[in-house]
Amino acid sequence: MTDAEALKRDAAAKALTFVEDGMRLGLGTGSTAKHFVDLLAERVRGGLRVIGVPTSEVTRKQAESLGVPLTTLDETPELDLTIDGADEIDPDLNLIKGGGGALLREKIVAAASGRMIVIADQSKMVDALGRFPLPIEVNMFGLAATRRAIETVLAKAGCSGPISVRTKADGHVFVTDGGHMILDAACARIPDAAGLASRLHSVPGVVEHGLFIGLATFAIIASPGGAEIVGR
Ligand code: A5P
Repeated sequence: MTDAEALKRDAAAKALTFVEDGMRLGLGTGSTAKHFVDLLAERVRGGLRVIGVPTSEVTRKQAESLGVPLTTLDETPELDLTIDGADEIDPDLNLIKGGGGALLREKIVAAASGRMIVIADQSKMVDALGRFPLPIEVNMFGLAATRRAIETVLAKAGCSGPISVRTKADGHVFVTDGGHMILDAACARIPDAAGLASRLHSVPGVVEHGLFIGLATFAIIASPGGAEIVGR
């Protein structure tokens, strides 16, 4: 395991200490959340009773293959705790998420949870959000018009960098679990993330965006010195 993966696993292991018997869990997506599901499965095999709602098909398959009991938000609309990664975390615990393309389900699951713990290595902490391109999930219908409207909103928010349609390694367009596309917006720095978050929601065709404002309860940040709780 590389040093970076070891840090992610440290953060995931510390998050596991907040999981209690009988909890209803939101299971995040991404390489850090994957470690959490691996470690959770070990505890489940040891007798821990939990039930999870996965935030993506990838996580659903991983959890199923490891024997973690799963449910849906339709069967279990209120969750106790979600554990998920992030692409950027600011000092107020606002996040950019969606680098893995699962932002829509991740936000729905986090919002349905009493608490959200963000797990990450120290490289994800930033002074201000925006260096990581902001993922914006859009309906495929009317893409060019939606994109123009998004550009206008972003420019007013001080983000005038290029917007690109997300593609896969094979060059084909990336399609989310919900059947939508993702536009990645290069901003460099987002001065008012909360304001931009609400203005993006006013654009018809925007399904969701990767700004997670006020959803994280606290973060567990791993560095070579150990995994520390931030923001509690
Ligand atoms: C998935 O859509 C994302 O929100 C991930 O949670 C985020 O990109 C963090 O992923 P890593 O843990 O792989 O960095």
